[in-house]
Amino acid sequence: MLTVALPTGRVMNEVIELLDSIGLPSARLKDRGRKLVLEDQNYRYILAKPMDVPLYVDHGVADLALVGSDVMWEAGASLIELIDTGMGKCRIVIAGPKELESRFIGHESELMWLKVATKYPNIADAHFSSRGVQVEIIHLHGSIELAPRLGLSDCIMDIVQTGSTLKANNLKVLANVTPVSLRLVASRKSSEFHWNEISDIVNRFRSIGR
Ligand code: PRP
Repeated sequence: MLTVALPTGRVMNEVIELLDSIGLPSARLKDRGRKLVLEDQNYRYILAKPMDVPLYVDHGVADLALVGSDVMWEAGASLIELIDTGMGKCRIVIAGPKELESRFIGHESELMWLKVATKYPNIADAHFSSRGVQVEIIHLHGSIELAPRLGLSDCIMDIVQTGSTLKANNLKVLANVTPVSLRLVASRKSSEFHWNEISDIVNRFRSIGR
């Protein structure tokens, strides 16, 4: 039996659609109620918070996972990335009020000591460090757009999908950081011990052009 960690939340429906499209069992997932572990045919599905998914694979609790590349980067876990599914597409951006735009167009030194609210402190640190800029990172766990509105931060680093949350909170994209999509990943250990089953799943993804 293969154990597969899946992210709950807004991406869950896309994940189920994806499993369906490669012929993995999904009936019990669709009818999951509040269950967090489900067994369907030869698969055990673990339903975890997106940010926690890499941890389950890294600790060997799950053999495989579908996980956003944003979360993978933030976790810094050493996982084997098998497939970019091309689903769950969004992007990580820096966003803030319009008045901040000129600082992002100017020299990098203009960004020194900005207060940046984010649920991605590691990505934010890596991004600004690579630009030679030191910023103050404020780690929040959600509703990041509140921070500049209430004066807790100057700007945010967050994911944008439709852009409607930014718009509703009078924030603009000031810089693009990276595109994000859903990846199929495995732990080093399970890719060694379960390679036949894992490569079967990889081939199923390839057969639908992923
Ligand atoms: C994410 C993200 C933004 C929003 C962007 O939050 O943090 O707030 O979605 O999506 P949009 O561009 O389509 O408006 P999520 O809904 O996952 O909730 P959270 O704020 O609790 O993290």
